[in-house]
Amino acid sequence: MSVFSAPDFDHHERVTFHHDQATGLRAMVAIHRDWTLPSVGGTRLRAYTSEDEAIADVLKLSRGMSYKCVMAGVEYGGAKAVIMADDDALRDREALFEAMGAFVDRFRGRFYTGVDFGLSVDDVRAMHHRTDYVCGLGHSDPAAATSRGVVTAIRAGVRRAFGSDDLSGLRVAVQGLGKVGMGVARLVHAAGARVLAADTNAEALAHAREHYGVEVMPVDRIHAAEADVFCPCAVGGVLDETTIGELKGRVVAGAANNQLTDVALGSALKARDIVYAPDYIANGGGLLAVVQEIEGFSDTELDRRLAHIGETLDEVFRDAESHGLTTAEAADRIAAARIAALDERTEMPASEATRKAS
Ligand code: NAI
Repeated sequence: MSVFSAPDFDHHERVTFHHDQATGLRAMVAIHRDWTLPSVGGTRLRAYTSEDEAIADVLKLSRGMSYKCVMAGVEYGGAKAVIMADDDALRDREALFEAMGAFVDRFRGRFYTGVDFGLSVDDVRAMHHRTDYVCGLGHSDPAAATSRGVVTAIRAGVRRAFGSDDLSGLRVAVQGLGKVGMGVARLVHAAGARVLAADTNAEALAHAREHYGVEVMPVDRIHAAEADVFCPCAVGGVLDETTIGELKGRVVAGAANNQLTDVALGSALKARDIVYAPDYIANGGGLLAVVQEIEGFSDTELDRRLAHIGETLDEVFRDAESHGLTTAEAADRIAAARIAALDERTEMPASEATRKAS
């Protein structure tokens, strides 16, 4: 596959390939946008079946990060790194990630990275031996911030559907009680909601039952629970034609990435009058915690930015209604417009930018 003609190329500014002979590292970094602030995005390790598959993944994910950034109100560009997993190279995992750290360091602070699929905090620590431009080793807790952002998104959806964001007495079905889902269960329980949940992990279920009075559901039926809100916090691709047809509530808001198997399915949700909080806005809290780590702003400022997720969703819901779009389409439309405005500002000669700003 050629990079320039790849489906998700979308004017990427930089795509860099790296090979380290000593460790066998084969990696790619895609930087969708590089505005005045650096670009951010996790590093993913996967057993890609081909280079084409890795290229398609890195482009799609880095573009998605630009969308996530602008909708979280941060002017960081979107980026992503992928490592093509290779059994030989993984025999010395620490050396592999040190080599990756050296690669990241070559961007001299224009690219910050951290944990994504297939990586552990130890891998990021190994990268940190060779670069300062990693996140997730400080005091910030991205999953906790993601849970809080998801609850803000649930409230925005509930406000849209029922006219009030009071969660007391509502039923919330949480799919996946991991780092994010457990936090959501705790917070909505504290807000007076009844929590139903499913997970493949019996320990997580026992904990949630004991502490948050969670009603346990079978893994393959949680989306169809008698609940006002469905909150996917496990894996992507949980909303297809069948599952959408079986939803009982009026709101979908959760942390999982790429919840819709096809963005066109937003229409199926709209047709059933279900308010869908686009995933990359609802789960933006983790990104905000990473930005807090980079910039060192206060917890009060983090609270303010997390609350803004609700205002962003209100804007998306209004835009969808006034333009006859699905909420997923409205979110993409607003994100693309914000990216275009940032591009324009960055490309403008400094004198003109100053004139325009004044
Ligand atoms: P996690 O790995 O800690 O938790 C996932 C949970 O889902 C686990 O308890 C697992 O047993 C359970 N699970 C797996 N398959 C399941 C199924 N079919 N049905 C029900 N439960 C199932 O992951 P984490 O960090 O809580 O993230 C959850 C989702 O949110 C993931 O899709 C992740 O990509 C996304 N996300 C997470 C962020 C974060 O800050 N951790 C930020 C943005 C998105």
